[in-house]
Order: sequence, then structure tokens, then C-alpha cells
Amino acid sequence: MSLEGTFNTIVPLISADEIHRRIKEMGKAISNDYGTITPENPLLLIVVLKGAFIFAADLMRTITVPCTVDFIFASSYGSGTQSSGNVAIRHKLIVTGRSVLIVEDIIDTGLTMQQITAELITMKPASLGICTLLDKPDARKHHVDIDYTGFIVPNTFIVGYGIDYDEHYRELPSLGVLNSDPA
Ligand code: PRP
Repeated sequence: MSLEGTFNTIVPLISADEIHRRIKEMGKAISNDYGTITPENPLLLIVVLKGAFIFAADLMRTITVPCTVDFIFASSYGSGTQSSGNVAIRHKLIVTGRSVLIVEDIIDTGLTMQQITAELITMKPASLGICTLLDKPDARKHHVDIDYTGFIVPNTFIVGYGIDYDEHYRELPSLGVLNSDPA
């Protein structure tokens, strides 16, 4: 499959097959770890929009314990390639007493996740876990304790599989690196 973008060159990084293989493993680990979860108080997946929507849809279908899903909207990049530190969390969630697993597409500086966890903790969940498809540790500025990581990735601008550059490339089934020197 070609990952040639409309406006920039995309260098393939992780194939769709590799992504799906890894997500199955993550779903198995999550299902094992939350094995005591009951239908009366199911695991709550909180998906960080927009980037995590595709990952979350695939991940949820690999989880075999009872779970429900809700969403929060957080945006830090705007139309740039650097995290701006402007994180806005909207949407009222019912979290108290729930086992919560935040589902994120990528943890970069860590600012978004730090702000999300700080906000969710005030709502007194029974537990709070973090699951990310991608972790970019070399870009970290704010400490984050990640419970489930799909792939460690280099400090480059990654697109595809839900992750955008200026709203483009979310539809790509695989992950690639955006080439900042368009051919
Ligand atoms: C991306 C990504 C994370 C955040 C990570 O979202 O989905 O939420 O940035 O960056 P950080 O660790 O430096 O805070 P983005 O702001 O691009 O919004 P989007 O998901 O709607 O595309």
C-alpha cells in the first residue's frame, strides 16, 4: 500500500497488520488485568478525541471483560506540529466509583495526559489507567505513568490511523512519519 500523502511525503513506520497484531495483545493484557470486572460496574474506556477514535474502536473489540465507552475532547496542536500546551477538556463525564482506562493515540510531551488525569482524579474513579497506542518518550516534558503502550516511536511527526497533521491523514490505515521537506 502506498502512503503517499496529498500534500507531503509520508514515510511508512508501522503497518496496519502490525498495528492490529499489537492491539490484540493489548486487549488480552487489559482483559486479564481487569478480569474481576463485573457487568454491574464495567470498565469505562475514556477515549481522547479526536486522534484516538480509530484505535479505541479497534481496541474495544479485543477486550473481553464488560466495558462501556465515553469520550473527552482534548486538543493541543491546533494546526502546528508542536504541542502548544493549550489543552481544553470539554464534556461532562460520570466517573465516580468506575474503573477507568484512558485511551489515547499518542503521548508526546505528556501535557495532555497530565491535564486529563488531574481532572479525572478529582472525579474519584475507583481506578485510573492509561493506555496509549504510541509513546514518544524522547519528547516528554511532563511525567506520565503509562499502563499499556502499543509502540515506542521516535520523536518525529507521526500521522495515520486516526492521527492527523492539520486534520489530514487520519484515514490512513497504517502509521507513517510526515516528511517536513516535501518532495
Ligand atoms: C494529540 C494526541 C494527544 C496529544 C499528545 O492530540 O492525540 O491527545 O496530542 O500530545 P502531548 O503529549 O504533547 O500533550 P491533538 O492535540 O493533535 O488533537 P487531536 O487528537 O484532535 O488531533
